[in-house]
Amino acid sequence: MNFSAVQPSQLPDLLRAMPKTELHIHIEGSLEPELIFAMAKRNDVRLNYANVEALRSAYAFTDLQSFLDIYYAGASVLQQPQDFYDMAWAYFLRAKADNVVHAEIFFDPQTHTERKVPMRTVITGLHDACRDAQEKLGISSSLILCFLRHLSEESALDTLEQALPFRDWIIGVGLDSSERGHPPEKFERVFKRAQQLGLKAVAHAGEEGPPAYIWSALDVLHAQRIDHGVQAIHDAALMKRLAAERIPLTVCPLSNLKLCVFPSLALHNLAEMLDQGVCVMLNSDDPAYFGGYLNENFLQVFEALPMNAAHAYQLASNSFEASFVPDDQKQIWQQKLDACFAQFGA
Ligand code: ADE
Ligand code: ZN
Repeated sequence: MNFSAVQPSQLPDLLRAMPKTELHIHIEGSLEPELIFAMAKRNDVRLNYANVEALRSAYAFTDLQSFLDIYYAGASVLQQPQDFYDMAWAYFLRAKADNVVHAEIFFDPQTHTERKVPMRTVITGLHDACRDAQEKLGISSSLILCFLRHLSEESALDTLEQALPFRDWIIGVGLDSSERGHPPEKFERVFKRAQQLGLKAVAHAGEEGPPAYIWSALDVLHAQRIDHGVQAIHDAALMKRLAAERIPLTVCPLSNLKLCVFPSLALHNLAEMLDQGVCVMLNSDDPAYFGGYLNENFLQVFEALPMNAAHAYQLASNSFEASFVPDDQKQIWQQKLDACFAQFGA
């Protein structure tokens, strides 16, 4: 591939056009304020904000917890299967516009079951949207059930049990919510049980928390991907291991910016990680809250950092490599990627 043939001025169009997967999207974080208000109205839920503008102007976060407090409040409008369907369908339309070919979607059942919304309601709504995304948009997808780490291990175990009737609609389990003070070790048993059921495992680690949490996500939870993982940069031995074992990091630049993990995108360590051979790929995390969907993450990060067409190719390839799909499908996407780069002269 002749990457130097791509002119810098062509880069934004190339970033938009290239096929890519998204592996770190909290579906509740794709709920736009307009949809929150529409659902509040139809479900007769009272919100603490007068209107869409007032809600949006509250999206000024100082750290992860300041975001999570608003994010859980927003999710309180989700009550019926149709709500979960509409939320996921709106995401898939955005994903289609960004040339996302495949999405592995996080959902937080405890946010809903704690409000007495049944697991069945949550999963059937999401599953129906995934089915329609394949049929109508040609986007493949799977669901990853996340445990909220600020809740107890017992609650996580109970959540996994409630999901068992829908086992075939879930590809894996994840771990999210407030990181500091909730190390991966707290969830060793529930991850073991999930893996006995044949589920894949991923975990948020090293978003705000220390590199030690990345080590224990790998060695105690046996996570196959690390969500965020940007704090790995402070641990040379860990960086070496991530690169040598090709352990994917699902990095979310706009999220890191909005949650003050980095003071600016120009100071983000994405390019450094890539150049050190770590399998990083880009994601939107909670796009309705962080100012952009997947392509917006690509565009802003390439604008801020010294990155080129070779980096773009590597990020898209990594997004295929890191996904939980069979190798023959990855090869098909890789060929699509090569054809896209050829159109831009590479
Ligand atoms: N839940 C939704 N977004 C999250 C994030 N960025 N970190 C941890 N938990 C989350
Ligand atoms: Zn996340």
